[in-house]
Amino acid sequence: SVAQPYGTAFSQFRPIPPSDQDELILPRGYKYDIVASWGEDLGNGEKFGFNNDFTCYFGSNPNEGLLWVNHEYIGDMSIFVNGYKEEPGRIRTARQIATEKYNLGGSVIQIRKGDEGKWSIVKGSPYNRRITGNTPINFTGPARGDDAVGGVTQVIGTFANCSGGKTLWNTAFSCEENYADIVKDWSENPEVPSLNPTHYGWVVEIDPNDPKSIPKKHTMLGRFAHENAVMTLGRSGRLVVYSGDDANDQCIYKFISDEVYRPELGKQNSRLMEKGTLYVADMGANKWLPLDLNKTPKLKEEFKTQGEVLVKTRDAAKFIGGTPLDRPEDIEIHPRDGSVYIALTNNTNHGNYFGQIYRLVEDDHNHESTSFFYEIFVSGGPQSGFSCPDNLMFDQSGNLWVCTDISSDKLSQGVYRPFGNNGLYMIPTEGPNRGKVMRFASAPVQAELTGTWLAPDGKTLFMSVQHPGEESKDVNNPTSRWPYGEAPRPSVVAISRQ
Ligand code: FEO
Ligand code: CA
Ligand code: CA
Ligand code: CA
Repeated sequence: SVAQPYGTAFSQFRPIPPSDQDELILPRGYKYDIVASWGEDLGNGEKFGFNNDFTCYFGSNPNEGLLWVNHEYIGDMSIFVNGYKEEPGRIRTARQIATEKYNLGGSVIQIRKGDEGKWSIVKGSPYNRRITGNTPINFTGPARGDDAVGGVTQVIGTFANCSGGKTLWNTAFSCEENYADIVKDWSENPEVPSLNPTHYGWVVEIDPNDPKSIPKKHTMLGRFAHENAVMTLGRSGRLVVYSGDDANDQCIYKFISDEVYRPELGKQNSRLMEKGTLYVADMGANKWLPLDLNKTPKLKEEFKTQGEVLVKTRDAAKFIGGTPLDRPEDIEIHPRDGSVYIALTNNTNHGNYFGQIYRLVEDDHNHESTSFFYEIFVSGGPQSGFSCPDNLMFDQSGNLWVCTDISSDKLSQGVYRPFGNNGLYMIPTEGPNRGKVMRFASAPVQAELTGTWLAPDGKTLFMSVQHPGEESKDVNNPTSRWPYGEAPRPSVVAISRQ
C-alpha cells in the first residue's frame, strides 16, 4: 500500500476520555484548522460538496498539495441541504434531486499552509474540480459494454463515495458504497429519468493532477457496497487490491492483476486494472476463491459472461462459498509486515454490537497467495474502550489509527453509553502496548470522524468531520452547531501540534 509518513508528531499524546460535547476534542498540545466546509466556493464557480468522507493528499510538498475528498450522502441531513425532512414515501422534486447530485461525488482542492500555519483552499486553482452525480465516467474491464450494464461503456455520475485509496501511480480510488438507496430515492420522481443501478457500486479512479481527465469505473474490482480499496504489490510484482463489502453478512475481496507493475510507466499502469482475477475470501477454508468463469467453471451454471459475474458480485461470491462477515469496512496493510487489517464494524443480525479488527496474513507473506490465516487483532467493547471500527490508517511507526462509526441515533445510548461520541483512536500493533486502545479525538455531536490521511512530513493529519447534527429535526434548533456556532457544516480539518 502507499506508505504514510512517520506519525511521530502524533504517536506521543495523552489519551482523552470519552465525551458527548459538541466539539472536536483533541489531546492537550494539538489544534485543528478548518480546511474546507460544505458549500465553500472553490473560486471557479464550483462549491465544496456535502458530507466529506475519505481524504487523500497528493504531492511531496508537506505545505502545499492536492486533496481528494469524497462526498458520501445526504439522507437525514436533507433539512440543511434541501430544506425538507427525509421521511418514508417522500418524493423529491427534480430540483432537489439536482441539488443532491451536485453535492455528492468528490472534490479536488489545492490546499496550502499559510504564514500562520493555517491550511486553506487555493481559490481559483486550475486543479480545483468537482466530480458529481452528473460527471461522465468511463467503464473499464470485463463489464464495460456488457449486457449486464445495458451495453454501455460510459455512465453518468458517482455518488455514495465512502472511503477510498491511493494507487501506486498517484491517482485516487473513490468507492461507491450505499448507492442502492440513493438510486431508489432519485428514481421515485417520474419526471426524472431513472438511473440504472448496475452503473453504480464500483470503484472509481480519479486523477487529481489532470483536471481534464475522465474518471474510470474499474469493473474488475466487482460491484458491491465498496468501503475502500487498498493497493499493494505481490511478490512477482502484480497489483493486488483488497476491498470490503460493507453490509450485514457480506464478504471481503481481492483483485490480482495478470501483468506486473512497472513504475517507469507511471499512470499507464492503470491499464493493469482491466485484466486479472477477483477473489472472494472463504474464511472457513482460509482460501481466496476466484470469481472467474474459467478458474471456477461452476459459475457457468448461473452466469453467462465474466461481466455478469462482476455486476452480480455478491450473488457470485455466495454461490461459490464466500464467507458472510459482520460488515467489512476499511482494509489497510501494515507498512512493515504486510499483514492485512480488516475492520468489521458490527452486525445487528446476530448481536455483534461492538465489532472487531481482524488481522489476515497471506501464506508465504505474499499478497498473490490464494491461502491465508487470520486472527482477531482487537475486539470493540467497554473493555477495550472503542466500538464500531470503520476507517483505518497506519503510520510508518506501525500504529493503527481507527475511526469509529456508532450510528448517530444510537450514540451514548444503551450498550453504546460508555463510548460517548464517535472518535479517532490509536492502537499500537507492536511492542509492549500492542492492542492498547488510546482515544486521540472525540467528534462533535452525531458526527463521525473519517478519512484520515497524513501529510508527507507526518506533521499534519487531514480528517473529515462527517454528518455533525445528523439527527436534527429542526433547522433552527440543530443538535450540533459545529463548527461555526450556527447550522452544522461537515468540514475537513487539518490537525497539528500547537
Ligand atoms: Fe460509509 Fe461503510 O461507511
Ligand atoms: Ca466508512
Ligand atoms: Ca460506516
Ligand atoms: Ca457515516
